[in-house]
Amino acid sequence: MVKYITAILILTSVVWAQQFEYMGTHKCKACHSSAKKGAQYKLWKETKHAKAYDLLLTDEAKQIAEAKGLTNTPDKAPECLECHTVGYGVGGYEVKEAEFWSPAEDDRKGKKAAKRMENLKNIGCEICHGPGSEYKKKKTMEAIFAGEVKGVDFGLLEVTEETCLKCHNKRSPSFKPFDYETRLEEIAHPYPPDMK
Ligand code: HEC
Ligand code: HEC
Ligand code: HEC
Ligand code: HEC
Repeated sequence: MVKYITAILILTSVVWAQQFEYMGTHKCKACHSSAKKGAQYKLWKETKHAKAYDLLLTDEAKQIAEAKGLTNTPDKAPECLECHTVGYGVGGYEVKEAEFWSPAEDDRKGKKAAKRMENLKNIGCEICHGPGSEYKKKKTMEAIFAGEVKGVDFGLLEVTEETCLKCHNKRSPSFKPFDYETRLEEIAHPYPPDMK
């Protein structure tokens, strides 16, 4: 019986794992902007991560792409989007046609989709913390914070050096040596001391 229940639990968590979706950084902004709680969104917005997509529109980027013999411009090349957007190729950012970006005034669904996609540009929260569809619910976030449930069961990942090394490595055409402790400090957005 115990075995049977365990099997069901494992199966459901496998199904769940496939259901975690990328929401876009604007979804995290709503609850992570208060100064009393550390204003993580504001601190993130001040980092270079928040502008990493724009780099793909520069002349420097175009030169890198040409030198690599890419036929697409960098903002449309999988070889670049992989490290300059959230979840490219795995349910996150996608290259879209012009119509997608300017939906009709009364097209609410289209507007939502465009806003989500806009907020999947750059190195957003979900790149490091995981796709947010399940953990972003207030009750779930509070339960994770309180240690009542495990974040990972809801898609909230543990951030480690490995998380950074997916992008900060020699496959980056402009690779700079990466010292984890120093770099971590530069993007820090901790809770205020009284919250811990
Ligand atoms: C509905 C509000 C809400 C939304 C939306 C939300 N959060 Fe949270 N989050 C919270 C609350 C509440 C906590 C508990 C700490 C606190 O009070 O700030 C928390 C805690 C966290 C923690 C720390 C968890 C821990 O281990 O203690 C992380 C990381 C986090 N959120 C990331 C995100 C990211 C990334 C997003 C966007 C995908 C997001 N949150 C969206 C409300 C929210
Ligand atoms: C999805 C890819 C990706 C991941 C994952 C990632 N980064 Fe980055 N990071 C970038 C890109 C792209 C830039 C360049 C932004 C720029 O120069 O405008 C960058 C820039 C930075 C910078 C600024 C460097 C400078 O020249 O000022 C720091 C610091 C940094 N990252 C730290 C980290 C840390 C720490 C982690 C892991 C916790 C991490 N990054 C994870 C892609 C990533
Ligand atoms: C493996 C991940 C990765 C890939 C793939 C990648 N980048 Fe980057 N890119 C980064 C990171 C990380 C940085 C920050 C500098 C560093 O430490 O490498 C960066 C920085 C840049 C910069 C700023 C240059 C600078 O001196 O800081 C430009 C421009 C850029 N990338 C363009 C591109 C283009 C164009 C492509 C596609 C041909 C591309 N990147 C592919 C990760 C990547
Ligand atoms: C480049 C990776 C990266 C990005 C992007 C990122 N975070 Fe984090 N975040 C971290 C790391 C590393 C920690 C340190 C705690 C840990 O190990 O999880 C952290 C901690 C947190 C915490 C808990 C603070 C604490 O003191 O424990 C919250 C809340 C949080 N992040 C929210 C966000 C939100 C909201 C965004 C987007 C606006 C975001 N993060 C973007 C890497 C990232």
